[in-house]
Amino acid sequence: MLTAISRYGARVLPDTEQIIARTRARGEFIQGPHIARFEDAFARRAGGSHAVAASNGRMAFYYILRALDLPPGSEIVLPALTFWVVPDLARVAGLKVVFADVDPATFTLDPAAFERAITPATRAVVPTHLYGLPCDMGAILEIAARHNLNVIEDCAHALGATCDGRPVGTLGDAGFFSFQTLKPLNCYGGGLALVRSAALASRVRALAGQEPWPDGKRVEKRLLVGRLQRIFIKPWVFTISAFPILWVSSLIGANPDVYLWEKIRSLHPLPEEYTERFSNVQAAIGLAALDRLDEWTARTQRHAQVMDRALGDLPGITIPQVPPGRTHVYYQYCVYGPQRDELVVRCVRRGIDIETLHVDVCSDLDLFAGERVEPPGAPGARRAAGAMQIPVYASLSEEQTARVARVVRGVLSST
Ligand SMILES: Cc1ncc(COP(=O)(O)O)c(C=O)c1O
Repeated sequence: MLTAISRYGARVLPDTEQIIARTRARGEFIQGPHIARFEDAFARRAGGSHAVAASNGRMAFYYILRALDLPPGSEIVLPALTFWVVPDLARVAGLKVVFADVDPATFTLDPAAFERAITPATRAVVPTHLYGLPCDMGAILEIAARHNLNVIEDCAHALGATCDGRPVGTLGDAGFFSFQTLKPLNCYGGGLALVRSAALASRVRALAGQEPWPDGKRVEKRLLVGRLQRIFIKPWVFTISAFPILWVSSLIGANPDVYLWEKIRSLHPLPEEYTERFSNVQAAIGLAALDRLDEWTARTQRHAQVMDRALGDLPGITIPQVPPGRTHVYYQYCVYGPQRDELVVRCVRRGIDIETLHVDVCSDLDLFAGERVEPPGAPGARRAAGAMQIPVYASLSEEQTARVARVVRGVLSST
């Protein structure tokens, strides 16, 4: 039977279960020495900033904002195309959100739109290295310096990427990372703040350290969900589980994606499951996974090159652009083509699951109605929402990657 290929693949250590069992046997499932070791290893990789682990990436961002202690009414500029949770948490932290458009060629914050979004009340900007490509940090840092703004990099998709030879998360004043199951470093949830100044880092650490330790059962459940996700996206399991739903959806024009993601809602007050500490078992997994990160990144990049070669010469198709000086880690491989939705359906019918939008055009969400957008309507973000995301993740085999490339090329070239 022909197996289907899922849009998502998780990076999984072969000895995950042994790592979990060891922390449990030592009584270090929730609290233990791996948290500090993981933070140290992460900071060392980044070249010396201060690292503070958190329950997830969004809370790392929230602690950075709280630690900055910006005056009430301060404005923060975020890209119009990002995960809705990030701007909403900025509001929970008491800031006024302003959206700036993205450059549809790179999917990242457009420096010109960012500069136009600045007012005398602006205090911070969040360059989001969306889909694994660093923002134009040279231009963004120069504008931020001129206006005396704090720069907080959203590195949720981009661990391992560099800009002018420097790792993301070390270019601004602080950065934050996500360790959710599908992210470049999979700890089955979790996050981390990377902070340049020791003083700011100690305030972030104090805020993260005020949270209670997580309940053991909750962490067990998290690991179980991760285990199930990892099983469900294996090609043969995916073929007989989620894929038939996608296949039928493609016939009836339904969009099952809406059920995959966290419900869009106000995060004020903060949900209880957000406010806890990072567990030792997850840190132990992260510590071991850091040793494999470069290998996984290189593998994903090789798969992206296969796709570049397969699709780059097709008329009307735009493959991902990587401006000079930046490296892309391809958390998502985004392609523009005509009649996107029809192309996606045809790929699904040939066993290749393609995602259409991984984040949100936040400026179009009811949740952010009334927030300022520069320029109004965020045409770049709307255009970027019309791309499709082709699987290139590290857990694909060479054969599977070649098959994805062949099928997608066949479909795209017959439009
Ligand atoms: C762009 C972006 N920023 C931040 C986050 C938040 O990460 P976490 O889920 O660990 O809170 C995500 C999560 O998917 C994301 O996609």
